[in-house]
Amino acid sequence: MAVVPYKDASGSKKSQVAQMFNSIAGKYDFLNHFLSAGIDIYWRKKAIGLLQKSKPARILDIATGTGDLAIEALKVNPEKVTGIDISEGMLAVGREKIQKKGLAHKIELFSGDSENLQFEANSFEAVTAAFGVRNFENLEKGLSEMFRVLKPGGRIVILEFSKPTAFPMKQAYNFYFKNILPVFGKVISKDQAAYTYLPESVQAFPDGKDFLKILDKVGFKNTQWQPLTFGICSIYTAIK
Ligand SMILES: C[S@@+](CC[C@H](N)C(=O)[O-])C[C@H]1O[C@@H](n2cnc3c(N)ncnc32)[C@H](O)[C@@H]1O
Repeated sequence: MAVVPYKDASGSKKSQVAQMFNSIAGKYDFLNHFLSAGIDIYWRKKAIGLLQKSKPARILDIATGTGDLAIEALKVNPEKVTGIDISEGMLAVGREKIQKKGLAHKIELFSGDSENLQFEANSFEAVTAAFGVRNFENLEKGLSEMFRVLKPGGRIVILEFSKPTAFPMKQAYNFYFKNILPVFGKVISKDQAAYTYLPESVQAFPDGKDFLKILDKVGFKNTQWQPLTFGICSIYTAIK
């Protein structure tokens, strides 16, 4: 059974995810940095650093949310970064941030579904995603779409939560993720479910070698995986 944010609601995972991110959009950036003690900023830097050598001209950031990975992607000096997301609330926060930073000529954000991308095949030299793929209703469909719009030879970089396996980090992380994070998340975001859905969706999501197998199946080559911060998070890269 798919893990969904609002267990008693009847909508699809996709509509529930969009509703949840619309509900927490105003507090999302603050909570990200607060609940991860700022480590999320370092994770995004690490992920984009992997594009430094290939210097992609056009980058698509899927599930871009409030645009933090899209903004970080400017470090590799692309011509343009395009971000798409299903949550209008998250996009609105992102657009305002990009406008304030004077980056609107470099980054464009559109409403769009990662599982049915509005772009032609072979359009981007790189496709990125941070903390997005775990929320897909159909993971293989979403990854296949990333593959389709990527140019041959292009690279994907996916950042996603994973599960630490070594003692004592595994135990400390589980305690924090299941007992502390949901309490702060609920009080600050005022959403009943979002920060309970987070640990539950991470628990159910394939990580490490299991995730690489799915990338292989979708058709990617040179699939690689790099755990960060004791395996709390991982970066996956692959080539089309
Ligand atoms: C945890 S946020 C990550 C946002 C941003 N990438 C970051 O690094 O902070 C996940 C985002 O994925 C978006 N999302 C989930 N499923 C999606 C889909 N099928 N298509 C596009 N966006 C999706 C949500 O709306 C949300 O903004």
